[in-house]
Amino acid sequence: MFVGLASGTTLCTLEDIADGSAKEFSCSVGDEIYNIFLQRKGDDVFAFNNACPHTGAPLNMEQGQFMEKSGTYLMCHTHGALFQLDDGLCVAGPCNGEFLEPFDVIVKDENVIVV
Ligand code: FES
Repeated sequence: MFVGLASGTTLCTLEDIADGSAKEFSCSVGDEIYNIFLQRKGDDVFAFNNACPHTGAPLNMEQGQFMEKSGTYLMCHTHGALFQLDDGLCVAGPCNGEFLEPFDVIVKDENVIVV
């Protein structure tokens, strides 16, 4: 799905993302194209550019699967880097201390909206 990331844009509903899973989008920001993902955990949704700070590779290998088995951290499936869900900080792996590029979204009235 291709969407713009203008403030106020509704990307999807909370119900569109199964708890613990993610939904992927291709987005335009100015002249740049990003592949972002929305990771749901409970009633919260976190949005990041799908590019590992180590090599720029996509984090996931299977569609919608970005979390490691325990459901605590996002994981890059290429070399196993682990990232905090709330801020994208890498806490283990070859890019330890670097961040995923975040995008600000909120959940309002069951809709996931670009801030
Ligand atoms: S590409 Fe992500 S850890 Fe190496």
